[in-house]
Amino acid sequence: MIPPDTVRKIHETADIVEVVSDFVNLKRAGTNYKGNCPFHDEKTPSFMVSPAKQVYKCFGCGASGKPVKFVMEHEKLNYTDALKYLAKKYNIEIQEREMTATEVSEHLERESLLIVTEFAKNFFVENLHKTDEGRNIGLAYFRERGFTDAVIRKFELGWSPRTSNALTQAALSKGYQQKFLEKVGLTIHNTERDYLFDRFAERVMFPIQSLSGQVIAFGGRTLRTDKKVAKYLNSPESDIYHKSNVLYGIFQAKEAIRKHDMCYLTEGYTDVISMHQAGIENVVASSGTALTKEQLKLIRRFTKNLTILYDGDAAGINAALKGTDLALSLELDVKVILLPDGDDPDSFSRKHTTDEIADFLKKNAVSFILFKANLLKQVPHTEPVKRAQMLTDIVKSISEIPNQILRSEYIRECSNSLNIREENLYEELTRLIAEKFENNRKTNFKERDPHVAYTPQLPAFIDKIFSENNEKELLNYLFNYGGNVIAEDEQTGDKQTVAEFIVSELKNENLEFRNLIYQKIFEEYDKLFINSEAVPTDYFLEHEDDSVRNVTLELVSPQRELSKLWEKRGNANELITTRLEELVPAAVEKYKLKLIQVKIEKTVEELNAVSDLPERLRILLDEMLFLDKLKIELLKFTEKTPIL
Ligand code: CTP
Ligand code: MN
Repeated sequence: MIPPDTVRKIHETADIVEVVSDFVNLKRAGTNYKGNCPFHDEKTPSFMVSPAKQVYKCFGCGASGKPVKFVMEHEKLNYTDALKYLAKKYNIEIQEREMTATEVSEHLERESLLIVTEFAKNFFVENLHKTDEGRNIGLAYFRERGFTDAVIRKFELGWSPRTSNALTQAALSKGYQQKFLEKVGLTIHNTERDYLFDRFAERVMFPIQSLSGQVIAFGGRTLRTDKKVAKYLNSPESDIYHKSNVLYGIFQAKEAIRKHDMCYLTEGYTDVISMHQAGIENVVASSGTALTKEQLKLIRRFTKNLTILYDGDAAGINAALKGTDLALSLELDVKVILLPDGDDPDSFSRKHTTDEIADFLKKNAVSFILFKANLLKQVPHTEPVKRAQMLTDIVKSISEIPNQILRSEYIRECSNSLNIREENLYEELTRLIAEKFENNRKTNFKERDPHVAYTPQLPAFIDKIFSENNEKELLNYLFNYGGNVIAEDEQTGDKQTVAEFIVSELKNENLEFRNLIYQKIFEEYDKLFINSEAVPTDYFLEHEDDSVRNVTLELVSPQRELSKLWEKRGNANELITTRLEELVPAAVEKYKLKLIQVKIEKTVEELNAVSDLPERLRILLDEMLFLDKLKIELLKFTEKTPIL
C-alpha cells in the first residue's frame, strides 16, 4: 500500500506534459500542446494537452484526464501501479514493504507475469556480473564484442547460467509461482520426466522492454558455434509479450527518436546496442522479422521519418524491399540505407566515430521509391520482362502512399530518374488502382448477404475527410455566433442571422448530418428555432443527454478546431466576428461540396459494380475516381489555408 502522503506528492509532482511526452510526440500549439492520440488511430493530431489545467483531452475519441489516468489507460495499469510508475519517474520514494509470496500470487495475472520477468532480468544481470561463470563467459563475450560496461548496464544484459534449471530453482525458492514462470516461457515443464528446466540456460540474455521500460520478454544468444543450436532463442508469446507489437530498444530510443525526428530501424539486438554505444540512440530493431503495422504505428507516435538500415548484400537488399509498402501506406516517410558490403549496423558502428556514422547516415539515406528506381536502373535493357516487373513494383509502392501530392512528387522523381514519361507512370498507377478497386469490389461481392440490397462501400478516406469536420464547423457557428447578423436587406431592413442562414440552407436541401449526435443537436436546434432567435447555447450545455452536453462543451471551449486555425492571427474571436458574412456561407458551401463528392463516389462505385461493364469503361471510371481523389486532396489543402 502507498501512504496517502506519498500519493498526494505523486499527484502534485507529475506533470501532464512530461508524462504524456514519454509516449506521444507533442508539439506546442499556443499555450497547449498537441499530438497524435495514443488511444485511437489517427494521422492528424486531435490530442490536446493543457499544462495549465494539467489535463489531456482527445477531440477525436474523447479520452481525457489527469496524469495518473493517462498512465493507467496507456500502460494498462491499475491505480496503484500507475502511481508507482510515476513515483519511479519522479524519484519519489515509496515506503512500501516488499510483497510476500502469497501477495504475489494474489496479484493480477498480468502484473504477476511482469514481476516474474523483472525477477529473471535481475537474476541474469547478477549472474553476469557477480558469478565467475557469468564473468568468464558472458561478460567476457560482451566485452570481446566491444560492448562497454555502461552499455551492458544500460541494456541490462545478462547471463543465464549453464545449470539447466538455475533460474527456475532460484525463482521457486523465492516464492514465485511455477505457473507464471511457465506462462512467460522462462521455465519449461518436461511432463514425461516431471522436470522443470530453463528455456534460456547457458545463453547471454537481452531483456526486451515495453515502451515504458517493463521487461516483457527475453532474447537469449548461445555462445556455442554448433550449428544445431539456434543462435537466438526468444520468449514465446504471452499475455505480456506480443512479438508483433514490440520493437527492441524502443524504451531506450524514444527520447532520441523524438529529438531527432527520425527513427533508424535495424534487424538485431546487437545492432541497436552498438549504435547506442557509438552515440546514435534513435535506433530500434524489428528482431529479424518483417515489420508489422503495430510496430510501424509505434514508431509513428514519435516521428514520421523512418530510415531502414540494411546489410549491403543481396539478402539485405531483399529484406529492404519487404514490408516497406506497409510503412508507406501509414504515411511514414521511408528511407533506406545500405551499409557497405559485409557490414551490419553493429560492425559498421564499431569501426567509425559518432560523427562519421551520423555523416554516413545523412549522406546515404535514399527515399525508398528512389532506392527501388536505382535497383531498376541496374537491370540491363536486354531484360525487358524483369524491368517491367520492377517498374510495376515501384508504381505499386507509390500507389500505397495515401497523400496524392506526395504521390505525384514521387512520380516526377521516378520519371526523371528512370527517364520514363510521367504519363506512362500515371497510366500504370491508374491501372494498379483500378485493379485494387476491382479486387475490393470482388471481395465486397463475395461477402455480401444476397438477401440484402447492395450498397457500395465508400472508401475509408471519404469518411475521413467528409467526416464530421464540416458539420462541426457549422455547429460551431451556430453555438458561438448564431445571433450575429450576416446580411441586411437595405430596403426592408430585414436582418439575417448566422443561425437563420445555416438552418435555412440545410433545411432547403434536406441535408442531414452524418454524425448522429450532431444531427440530434441540429434537429433540436431547428425545433427551438422560433422567431429567428438564436437558441441559447446554455440549453445544450445543460442538456439531459451526456453526449450532447459534451459536444457543446467542446465547441464552446476555446480549444475548438477553428480557433486553432486562427490562433496565430491574434484574437481569433474578433477576427471571426468581423468576417462571418464570408466565413459562414463558405462553410456551408464546403459542406455541400463534400456531400456532392460522396455522391460521385457512390455513383462510380455502383457503376463499377455492374458485372458486364466493358473493361474500357471501367478503366475510365477509375481514372475519373482517381482525378476525383486528387481534387479532394487539393480541397483539403485549401482548407488548411485560412482565407485572408
Ligand atoms: N534472430 C532470432 N532468432 C534467430 C536468429 C536471429 O530471433 N535464430 C533475430 C534476433 O533478434 C537477431 C536478429 O534476428 O538480433 C538478427 O539476426 P542476426 O543478424 O543473425 O544476429 P545479430 O543481431 O547480428 O547477432 P550476432 O551479431 O550476435 O550474430
Ligand atoms: Mn551481427
